[in-house]
Amino acid sequence: MQTSTQRFDPRLSIRESLRDLPTYVPSRPEAQPERIVRLDMNESPYGPSPKALAALQGFTDTHRYPDFGQSALRAALSAYTGVPADRIVAGAGLDDVLTTLATLVLEPGDEVVISEPTFGVYRIMVALHGGVTVDAPLGPGFTLDPDRVLAAIGPRTKLVIVCTPNNPTGNELDPAAVERICAGAPCIVAIDEAYAEFGSTSYIPFVDRFPNVIVARTMSKFAGLAGMRVGYGLFPASLAPYLPRVTPPFHNVAVASAAAAIASLDDLDYLRGVVQRIIAGREQLADQLRELPGVEPLPSSTNFLLVRLPVQDAGPVVAELAKRGVMVRHFGRPELGIRDCLRVSVGTTGEHEIFLQELADILSETRATA
Ligand SMILES: Cc1ncc(COP(=O)(O)O)c(C=O)c1O
Repeated sequence: MQTSTQRFDPRLSIRESLRDLPTYVPSRPEAQPERIVRLDMNESPYGPSPKALAALQGFTDTHRYPDFGQSALRAALSAYTGVPADRIVAGAGLDDVLTTLATLVLEPGDEVVISEPTFGVYRIMVALHGGVTVDAPLGPGFTLDPDRVLAAIGPRTKLVIVCTPNNPTGNELDPAAVERICAGAPCIVAIDEAYAEFGSTSYIPFVDRFPNVIVARTMSKFAGLAGMRVGYGLFPASLAPYLPRVTPPFHNVAVASAAAAIASLDDLDYLRGVVQRIIAGREQLADQLRELPGVEPLPSSTNFLLVRLPVQDAGPVVAELAKRGVMVRHFGRPELGIRDCLRVSVGTTGEHEIFLQELADILSETRATA
């Protein structure tokens, strides 16, 4: 008889829909340059709040499981958002909350409508659940077209995801368009507000106004806790009875991460100051970029900028920046319409100086060889 070493085919043992699924590729250099400036993941350059840091430094309870149901964390999130705790699902980042949402609604073959260019994780998350992504692309100037989104909804559509402010374009979508989709869609509409604290509009009131609207948020960006992995979803009362069926018992949030998040929510004045610093840094960086010939930063309501370069394909520029230790992102799929762009996170003034210097240098070399 053949043994499993001879018979076992790992490719055939995994789900068919996953066999050729592309994986998320972060922009990391092949060789490690001496200094690395990380402006590719939209992290906070200023770290956590002092209260979060103190909570982590005094943290000893690693041997204890989290409180079943994360009641302290959800109470703190409830105080922050005004949504009752029984309608809040926490998770190991916003991505994890989306996975819980997919578990709640997606059968294999179900459809999810998104508007590209938008956050790349949606496609991966949908495919992981055997779903099908349908794109109702953003229009000129990356505007949301509610008619296009509503027309893309079919009998198998279970979910529409709207990302505002949108990643990677950085703009806030038109509130009237978002509202039309929420009011018109016969399915769940999830609004990804990862960058809400940097913008001017929050859709939290919609989870009370509409029975089908979920708002998903994160502590990664404004609170500087990307590495701790804490996100949360705010659900309408209509879905509350179903949440305990799909929520992981400990909400996938580690005890230390919950402690850091709770302490951050007790340090909001400090964090609002950080957000203001990041916004000021963003506008200064945009002004400096505009001084480079042919370079055009697009308006942003986030902690990053999408920047058009005077080239057809920004891929080689981004690769050369990476070789020089400056990490930014490029989105090369031609149908996204942003091949000539790079996305750069707002960093410290020192990080901006290095980025600007290297970018100016590479663009002048590109001009010289053109
Ligand atoms: C639009 C959007 N949603 C979600 C996330 C992921 O957030 P988290 O770190 O909470 O998983 C990101 C991270 O870049 C994002 O840009």
